[in-house]
Amino acid sequence: PPLDSLTNLYDFENLASQILTKQAWAYYSSGSDDEISLRENHSAYHRIFFKPKVLVNVSKVDTSTELLGEKVDVPFYASATALCKLGNPAEGEKDVARGCGMGPKTAPQMISTMASCSLEEICKAANKDQLQWFQLYVNPDHKVMENMIHDAEDMGCKAIFVTVDAPGFGNREKDAKIKFTSDISGPRTMRKGKEGGGQSKGAAQFMSKFVDASLSWEELAEIKKKTSLPLVVKGVQRVEDVIKAAEMGCSGVVLSNHGGRQLDFSRAPIEVLAEVSPILKEKNYPNFEVFVDGGIRRGTDVIKALCLGAKGVGLGRPILYANSTYGKEGVQKAIQLLNAEVEMSMRLLGVNSIKELGPELLDTTNIKAR
Ligand code: FNR
Repeated sequence: PPLDSLTNLYDFENLASQILTKQAWAYYSSGSDDEISLRENHSAYHRIFFKPKVLVNVSKVDTSTELLGEKVDVPFYASATALCKLGNPAEGEKDVARGCGMGPKTAPQMISTMASCSLEEICKAANKDQLQWFQLYVNPDHKVMENMIHDAEDMGCKAIFVTVDAPGFGNREKDAKIKFTSDISGPRTMRKGKEGGGQSKGAAQFMSKFVDASLSWEELAEIKKKTSLPLVVKGVQRVEDVIKAAEMGCSGVVLSNHGGRQLDFSRAPIEVLAEVSPILKEKNYPNFEVFVDGGIRRGTDVIKALCLGAKGVGLGRPILYANSTYGKEGVQKAIQLLNAEVEMSMRLLGVNSIKELGPELLDTTNIKAR
């Protein structure tokens, strides 16, 4: 169908489910075990309601904000997703970079360590001042990891997100049922590390060889010393760990259960956020930013997260599906559609700017009670 006929992020998903290869669909769409967290991530948003303000002048609504010290048009970003070439074999992550930069509203891109294009290709596909971040999986060979950090700095990435929720990859059964051979679309960034190759039960098992299961807080502190860029811990799921990251001097955390692909029965990140934010406010760590991802599909989801204290939110699958169906134009369209929803919902909520969003605009009775 013509791209113009797509009206929301679910439309990309529906289409992707029809046209992707079995392998790409299995890898992208799967969650772990019984996919409880996968479903809960999104359905938790359904327990939160709004208390809109009326008779506010909302003739102008501004969705721009600042993330990790950089100005951005929209309060959301394309989160790191591995193997974009499974769905878009010709252009992979390069089209995500282009789509994020095409505008009129541009969005930041977090580039995965497991990308199927090289970091250089992805960074060069972006416009000059486009905001890109690097997502780091800590390689068992720490020299390789250090090189990755330095490459990301050299290529102009503005932050490092260290993913800590994947000391092993979750049991994604749809994915595991399909044999993965590294020559299909082996991520280039990994070849610098231990030689992979051969066949694996699914893409996730193949990639697990490149992630260090021994990573600890002590080691994270060492990694932090290796870069002057803001370091954000991605995949945090409990208050105590958020505090640890803040005390260590990290620039932030992403509350995330990896899109329901790791430990099943992990809580929905939006609920963790509701618990974390009041505590962080009390402790007051200046410049510490909380991000959240998982199940965000609507402008209202974005706004709920921001009301509860998130600085920005990540999109995983929606961008993969947009990239796999229409390439860069799809990614561009998905960003504009979601932002139009954010803007309209802000107007209906009675706020003009992101900084006016706060918990007083929400009814969270149904999540506090749990
Ligand atoms: C991911 N995610 C992920 N995270 C990460 O830090 N590095 C990675 O390489 C990947 N790869 C990846 C592949 C695929 C196919 C998916 C679906 C997800 C997790 C991702 O960054 C994000 O946390 C979730 O996708 C957010 O959930 P939604 O938006 O997909 O519901």
